[in-house]
Amino acid sequence: MDISGNTIFIPGATSGIGLALARALREKGNTVVVGGRRTELLGELAAEGFGTVRVDTADAASIEQAARDVLRRYPDLNVLMTMAGIMRAEDWTRPGDFLATAETVITTNVLGPIRLIAAFIEHLRSRKDATIITVSSGLAFVPLKVTPSYNASKAAIHMLSESIRLQYPDVRVVELVPPSVQTDLMPGQRDNERAMPLDEFVAETVALLESQPDAKEILVERVKFLREAVQRGDYDHVVTVLNATDPHANK
Ligand SMILES: NC(=O)c1ccc[n+]([C@@H]2O[C@H](COP(=O)([O-])OP(=O)(O)OC[C@H]3O[C@@H](n4cnc5c(N)ncnc54)[C@H](OP(=O)(O)O)[C@@H]3O)[C@@H](O)[C@H]2O)c1
Repeated sequence: MDISGNTIFIPGATSGIGLALARALREKGNTVVVGGRRTELLGELAAEGFGTVRVDTADAASIEQAARDVLRRYPDLNVLMTMAGIMRAEDWTRPGDFLATAETVITTNVLGPIRLIAAFIEHLRSRKDATIITVSSGLAFVPLKVTPSYNASKAAIHMLSESIRLQYPDVRVVELVPPSVQTDLMPGQRDNERAMPLDEFVAETVALLESQPDAKEILVERVKFLREAVQRGDYDHVVTVLNATDPHANK
């Protein structure tokens, strides 16, 4: 995609990667509309000059309402970035413990992007320069022991991206594949020294979007350890290393 001149909706941009990317993309000359549930943060972002929309991406009706609102106010919208996501630890040895968490993770991380794409696709297909940016994870490719449903949700987003790309010759589908990044996605993650600093991740991501306008996947250097494990032939080693070093691995 062209890095400037777009109108971009990012549901899941009240904090973390979404917010940092929203700011960086605005700097590059894009109109950016941010979405999320936390209305007080949306108020602050409106004061910063962003378009804002309240949306709960775990709720189908909320997505439909938000899509109507965004398209009425921003008829030039040509980029949808399905950023909203949650990550939760689960203990699958205790069936009573993990099921509700798993359902919430899958509803937010898989059904959310599917419903968002459904709500926007007709509009996007009417645009000459439409792009859907999905957000998977290095954990789509190598599992972290403590987050089975999260890993599975991101693997689903990877395959969904691969699949819909085949159905939409007129819409660019770009998969953002972050490594561990210092945000509040999981408790303690913001201060995890092994995670990538957020500003470095966003700078490298924007540079890749700019230098690789036809890329199917946006891969910063630090995610290649996970993303390319199968291709390198060291998958089992990477699974071991990831789960030995991650601070959540033994929780
Ligand atoms: N940080 C990492 O290490 C990492 C690695 C790989 C992939 N990712 C992915 O990157 C995306 C952003 O995560 P992050 O690290 O930036 O975490 P974050 O700081 O916790 O941000 C999550 C964002 O998603 C929004 N969100 C969550 N549930 C939502 C819902 N039901 N409805 C609407 N918005 C919702 C939150 O907004 P509200 O709370 O205001 O609703 C927030 O803006 C996620 O999809 C995550 O899986 C992150």
